Amino acid sequence: MKLFETYQMKNMTLRNRIVMPPMCMYQATSDGFPTLFHLCHYATRAMGGAGLIIVESTAVTPEGRISDNDLGLWNDDQIAGMKRVADVIHANGAKAALQLNHAGRKSRSASGGPFAPSAIPFDENSRVPGELTERRILALTEAFRQAAQRADQAGFDALEIHAAHGYLLHEFLSPLTNRRTDGYGGTLENRVRFLREVLTAARGAWPADKPLWLRVSACDYQECGIDGGMMSEMIRQIKPLVDCVHASSGGLLPVKVSDYPGYQVQFAEELRRECGIPTIAVGLITDEKMAEEILENGRADLIALGRELLRNPYWPINVAAKYGLDDFIPESYRRAYAKP
Ligand SMILES: Cc1cc2nc3c(=O)[nH]c(=O)nc-3n(C[C@H](O)[C@H](O)[C@H](O)COP(=O)(O)O)c2cc1C
Repeated sequence: MKLFETYQMKNMTLRNRIVMPPMCMYQATSDGFPTLFHLCHYATRAMGGAGLIIVESTAVTPEGRISDNDLGLWNDDQIAGMKRVADVIHANGAKAALQLNHAGRKSRSASGGPFAPSAIPFDENSRVPGELTERRILALTEAFRQAAQRADQAGFDALEIHAAHGYLLHEFLSPLTNRRTDGYGGTLENRVRFLREVLTAARGAWPADKPLWLRVSACDYQECGIDGGMMSEMIRQIKPLVDCVHASSGGLLPVKVSDYPGYQVQFAEELRRECGIPTIAVGLITDEKMAEEILENGRADLIALGRELLRNPYWPINVAAKYGLDDFIPESYRRAYAKP
């Protein structure tokens, strides 16, 4: 089964193609440190057999948190705790990636902000964000660079820059939330500029042989917003800086998205085909036959299962056992799968 074949990206070799996508658990301490919850939570998914675990949205500045219980890597004291998270993932055979984020106008943190490219709130219940000055934009680029360096020191194998779901980088990319008239707004090239600067800075602090990729929302589900074609054009602009694209959608606006099994696979497929770049497919994929179809038909390179792995952390080894791939079952658990 292709789902259980190894996958190589730079110097990272995955034992299979199953990915746990980043999912905020809101269990960090108020100063951004992981807790025992994180160690158990991530260790369990690694024991369950996922090939790659992308640790949840981790803030590059305190006011860049989605909530005040998000993980953070904005200072050196936070490295040791994050290293323990990477260590428990490694100890159970998976590779560990970390998602770096700034929540922009969607931050609910009490520690300042929120900030955005333009002073447009998310909805009527949200705070009006302050428009970022160029000086602050440069400071945030530096915050991403430093956080990337700390993620490397913490032992992560890969880095995912969060440019999806209506957070800061996505807000710069979309013409619906970026109304700037300076060099960071207007044309598509200008709207991509902050992302390019962040990626360049992160690359500078991140080892060249470790993968670094991007999570994007390939559709804003609104007229004049981002769609697959516009996102392909944006990815082409920064392609030399990324090894892969994790294709999600939505989150920029309070609009209802109609979801159904595999509803975002089309974006992973389009970006892979149009930009010639590896992609991760995600979004209501819960069935191994669907995962296999996506891989076999070359629509994506890796398959992420979010809520399914929250419900069922042992999904990968249970599927492996069903297809007789007993090598994927951890030695200590094999008696539980032995035929009577
Ligand atoms: C509890 C929860 C927290 C999430 N947190 C994040 C996050 O930190 N970063 C992110 O990019 N996406 C986040 N997501 C989105 C997931 O990564 C994933 O894209 C989404 O759940 C769709 O995949 P699924 O249908 O397999 O669950 C979160 C989703 C859930 C359910």
